[in-house]
Amino acid sequence: MKPTNPPKTYRVTSFGCQMNVYAGERMADLLGERGIAPAPQGEEADLVVLNTCHIREKAAEKVYSDIGRLKKPDGTKPMIAVAGCVAQAEGEEIMVRAPAVSMVVGPQAYHRLPDMLDKAVQGERATDTDMPAIAKFGALPQRRRSTPTAFLTVQEGCDKFCTYCVVPYTRGAEISRSYNSLVDEACKLVETGAREITLLGQNVNAWSGEDEAGRAVGLAGLIQALAKIDGLERIRYTTSHPNDMDDALIAAHGEVDKLMPYLHLPVQSGSDRVLKTMNRSHTAESYLRLLERFREARPDIALSGDFIVGFPGETDAEFEETLTLVDEVRYSQAFSFKYSPRPGTPAATMENQIAREVMDERLQRLQASLNRDQLAFNQSLVGKTCDILVERKGKHDGQWLGKAPWLTSVWFTEEDGRSAEIGDLVQVELIEAGPNSLQGAMRKAAIA
Ligand code: SAH
Ligand code: SF4
Ligand code: F3S
Repeated sequence: MKPTNPPKTYRVTSFGCQMNVYAGERMADLLGERGIAPAPQGEEADLVVLNTCHIREKAAEKVYSDIGRLKKPDGTKPMIAVAGCVAQAEGEEIMVRAPAVSMVVGPQAYHRLPDMLDKAVQGERATDTDMPAIAKFGALPQRRRSTPTAFLTVQEGCDKFCTYCVVPYTRGAEISRSYNSLVDEACKLVETGAREITLLGQNVNAWSGEDEAGRAVGLAGLIQALAKIDGLERIRYTTSHPNDMDDALIAAHGEVDKLMPYLHLPVQSGSDRVLKTMNRSHTAESYLRLLERFREARPDIALSGDFIVGFPGETDAEFEETLTLVDEVRYSQAFSFKYSPRPGTPAATMENQIAREVMDERLQRLQASLNRDQLAFNQSLVGKTCDILVERKGKHDGQWLGKAPWLTSVWFTEEDGRSAEIGDLVQVELIEAGPNSLQGAMRKAAIA
């Protein structure tokens, strides 16, 4: 590649899970520290960072079409960096398939983006997909933006090896960041304006550490420590694995007021035979029992999950078992996907791959059930008055969007001269339910 002028503007676009969103924000901070500015709206940047996801084929292929389309106003290509899980899984292939790419930076190496940029300006293409575990976190600059909701990565990686999934290969083994570094980072997030923190990890409830007194603690202990931070009003965590749940975390939902009544707990299938072939190491029954215990600890808890339809060998009857499980749980929201064979995973070479039409039909039926339950959940909230954390302005004057404790989006209007601001916690009466959100009216101004 030819040497070029250093970029003046950047754009970071993140795909995939919230951990990618967190990493994307940190990369933007790093570039900002270098004096590179976010590109103005509607204008392509000098440097584009595509922060990619490898979880399903469609997501992974998208990066190549995106690279093909990138163009600056003068018709030239911007400098391109590919980050995230496609970078990790297909680093060398990207360099061959996409000559326009000058940097490939894996999820464990993104703190080295500025150094790679120096090389790229000299005309050198650079790849860094090492997995040195935790080094990147210490190397990152402080967040400058102050949004009321913030992500905090506490744990990374996965040792579960579900037979369909690439995450153990792209993100490596499970590691936990230290208790002290997390309490520090949470305090800084709150100082810069965060009122809600979502703790992130591919297996967030596998987090473990040692508290100030050197005692071993799990995620519940960390949550209890964060709940003591003044100015932090809400704590959430995602994504959990059924096998890493412990009594303390369940109990925390009944004991810690700041811990929100919401749990995302993927199940994938309602059939024990399918779960076994997926290597999920839980059964439908053990999963349902676990949810029951959460409901006992926190009766109003909203439940969410992930599903895969059309896993190799899934029969009609086994798919029906998934629908039965859904009927039993009544999720407040959920994510459902068609099985996508991923290179290098055991399921990709299993016999009895399911035909696309069968998957389509199963996904439609599953989503009809999930949508029915989501609407019913939203309707069950009508008439309640609850706290809403205000996230942004709506289209109309005096209209705002925020989240209820159950993670439901609520559009509300200011009433009787009370006014709201981004970051306020206000009381809103929920008046009308739609499939994806509720409408409400503000009953009390900022309460904290
Ligand atoms: N660690 C979390 C989430 C991992 S990825 C967990 O264990 O559940 C998010 C979701 O993507 C998964 O829960 C699963 O439903 C889906 N997924 C993962 N691999 C997939 C594949 N090969 N095909 C379709 N969906 C997949
Ligand atoms: Fe993937 Fe399973 Fe690990 Fe979740 S637990 S990240 S689905 S391997
Ligand atoms: Fe995708 Fe990687 Fe997250 S594959 S879902 S970006 S861990």
